[in-house]
Amino acid sequence: MDDPGLAAAALAAIVGDAHVLVDPDLRAGYETDWTGRYHASAAIVVRPGSRDEVAAVLAHCNDHRVAVIPQAGNTGLVGGSVPRSGGPRPVVLSTRRLDRMTDLDADALQVTAGAGTTIAAWQAGARAAGLDTPVDFAARDSATIGGAIATNAGGSRVVRYGTMRHQVVGIEAVLADGRVVGSLAGLPKETAGLHWPSLLAGSEGTLAVVTAARLRLVPRHERVVTAMVALATVDDAVALAGTLRTALSTLDSVEIVLPAAVALVARHLGERAPVDASGPVVIVECAAHVDPTDELATVLASATGVTDTAVATDPARRDHLVRFRDRMTEAIAAQAGADGTPTFKLDVAVPLHALGALLDVAERAADRDGATLIAFGHLAEGNLHLNHLHATDTTLLADTVLAEVARLGGTISAEHGIGVAKAAWLPLIRSDGDLAAQRSIRAALDPRGIMNPGVLATGHDPAEL
Ligand code: MLT
Ligand code: ZN
Repeated sequence: MDDPGLAAAALAAIVGDAHVLVDPDLRAGYETDWTGRYHASAAIVVRPGSRDEVAAVLAHCNDHRVAVIPQAGNTGLVGGSVPRSGGPRPVVLSTRRLDRMTDLDADALQVTAGAGTTIAAWQAGARAAGLDTPVDFAARDSATIGGAIATNAGGSRVVRYGTMRHQVVGIEAVLADGRVVGSLAGLPKETAGLHWPSLLAGSEGTLAVVTAARLRLVPRHERVVTAMVALATVDDAVALAGTLRTALSTLDSVEIVLPAAVALVARHLGERAPVDASGPVVIVECAAHVDPTDELATVLASATGVTDTAVATDPARRDHLVRFRDRMTEAIAAQAGADGTPTFKLDVAVPLHALGALLDVAERAADRDGATLIAFGHLAEGNLHLNHLHATDTTLLADTVLAEVARLGGTISAEHGIGVAKAAWLPLIRSDGDLAAQRSIRAALDPRGIMNPGVLATGHDPAEL
């Protein structure tokens, strides 16, 4: 940036002085990501309060060829929403002030939410109308709609409702040069050429800044049962997931926590694990208008390898079971903080039948490194979060595990995104043709390359960085 003082004045004329942060103390919360692993300075943090302000900020940055890092709730785990080192300092564009929810239509099961609306606020709005959200995950209080769309977030309810991509029935976004694209009409059916929600979901702020979305809502199921099931082996857990999916139309989530992770979260909570967890633990939730407990119990009774079970239907006891999954990330972060080394996180998915093979490779790689592997995730999608505490050679860990993931037909990023953290391994799962096409789309929408440079970039093309 030529002159940060001049740029700050120009941006303040758009959004007001209070929303242009140049003081290092005020910028700090926008410059480090949730893991603490990714950090660099921004020249300015700008906090527009409307779509038109976003458009004017982007047009200004585009005119002056200033890189822009779009940032939502900053709960990302792959370094995609904070500045990166090297090159001129960028502008961080925070969408958190775009937090209005409007036009809830209980008949169409839709609501319009600003990009800065938190997942928790989306949930509260839906519940106030007797409805629910199809997406939920642990960072719900800070993560926002804009970030969830940008990363195509998943969470625990994907088995029933799909990922964030499937919830976006309309989108409004601003391109690098300030042009507004998309529509919030929310038509459930429309075939009229390019579909902006499909293009932008998962694009990690490289194509446009999402300012609002028309989102699906789902029925609120008031009868919920949660079961924590200890199993002898990972293959037993996989078989259980298959049976649950086939037998139960009420299935909301099927999560898995491996024994070292159960022990860590139990220590963090200061509670005993509700089941004896010497093997993997599966946490299942079913929800319906009529009590699904009996049908779940029938499936569990015939499952193989079950060594212990706890079942709850009242909210307090259900919360107790869910805590052992929901507070996993917090437990890992606390341990990493105590160790003084940020967690090294991989977020992979493989075909279900390959889960055991992948875990074997991941455990051996962690052992060789001297790292402690804390594994948990979304069993129904074969999605494991492989967290490494006090890892030594993170590149070798990623090389080993991600190559095996690709060999097994899986993906190097199931729901956290590529960001900068996984960009180097993208060629494992994308062909040269895929990557070239992606670069062309990016260049067409952002010819000056100001949008989140370095993210989703393999480094094969110097113009990407
Ligand atoms: C989760 O499933 O809890 C999230 O993806 C966060 C994480 O992996 O740490
Ligand atoms: Zn997850």
